[in-house]
Amino acid sequence: MKKKILVTGGAGYIGSHTTVELQEAGYEVVIVDNLSNSNLGVVEGIERITGIRPAFEQIDCTDKKGLTEVFNKYPGINGIIHFAASKAVGESVHKPLLYYRNNIVSLLNLLDLMPEYQVKGIVFSSSCTVYGQPEKLPVDETAPIQPALSPYGNTKQIDEEIIRDALNAGLPYKSIILRYFNPIGAHPSAEIGELPNGVPQNLVPYLTQAAIGIRKELSIYGNDYNTPDGSCIRDYIHVVDLAKAHVIALDRILENKSESRLEYFNLGTGKGVSVLELVYAFERATGVKVPFKIVGRREGDIEQIWADSRYANEVLGWKSVETIEDTLKSAWRWQLKLRENGIM
Ligand code: UD1
Repeated sequence: MKKKILVTGGAGYIGSHTTVELQEAGYEVVIVDNLSNSNLGVVEGIERITGIRPAFEQIDCTDKKGLTEVFNKYPGINGIIHFAASKAVGESVHKPLLYYRNNIVSLLNLLDLMPEYQVKGIVFSSSCTVYGQPEKLPVDETAPIQPALSPYGNTKQIDEEIIRDALNAGLPYKSIILRYFNPIGAHPSAEIGELPNGVPQNLVPYLTQAAIGIRKELSIYGNDYNTPDGSCIRDYIHVVDLAKAHVIALDRILENKSESRLEYFNLGTGKGVSVLELVYAFERATGVKVPFKIVGRREGDIEQIWADSRYANEVLGWKSVETIEDTLKSAWRWQLKLRENGIM
């Protein structure tokens, strides 16, 4: 029988790509999503790729009663991948309570319900933001956690601590915490991708919108950092590579392959790419020019960070394989598809 997985936030950007990989690996997926930053068209996109329509429930994970009904309606959920969260750094500064409520209460509800429904484990979406500006690069999983620079970042740290304390207290499940670097790109079919609400805050959606003419030009935040070309450095990872890591992490929990009840993995490519390098890589990969200007630094930005991904490579047995050019091509195909479909 197929194992049943609850994917919270499964209609979102990383959640939808992960649902595709889970279904292709033979899992049955139940998506719970409040559609606050997505829509039902995403579920249709998943169905067009895999031929399987995942079960879908429009529920907010802060609603414990609603979640309980989902566990009753779909008995035998074996594992959870918890994506549902608010993730806009700037917004979190202005609406901290919204962020604390969404990102913390949702996790508490799931952790509370898991023992009652005998769920074996939870894979949690965390972020490299927990490392702040690391002293040593590339950054590995043993690097110290630094004070968060935003309420959003703080919710990720607090959620990691909640999971650790719950397991230390002997709650009967396992967890794998995945610290993402910068996910970009879209499914090669261009059926699903990143669909930001309003003006994109993240680099690649803004860049593709500038390239297609929706935005006048991309603003590059700072060229006076202490990096080779002066722009910030990040570790950009193809969202499909990232999605595949979730399937491996889940298998690891469900098949009892993990060495301890709680594990942490960095998910990055291991390569740092500057903002300017990324713009030029996009132009090389697609032949499309990106209008841009250099502006001042963005508050709260980290100068440079990229992953030491050896632990994920060796212990999880996962490695990112896509090149930055192919990844950017997939982001561009998705942008063209949105235009073709009259979405933007
Ligand atoms: C941010 C968060 C990260 C979060 C992620 C999810 C921090 C430090 N990082 O990542 O925790 O998980 O968002 O949304 O809080 N840039 C431009 N012009 C733009 C947009 C971005 O130059 O219009 C630059 C930024 O300065 C940065 C890089 O592009 O150097 C990547 O920015 P972005 O895509 O927003 O991701 P992060 O800030 O790295």
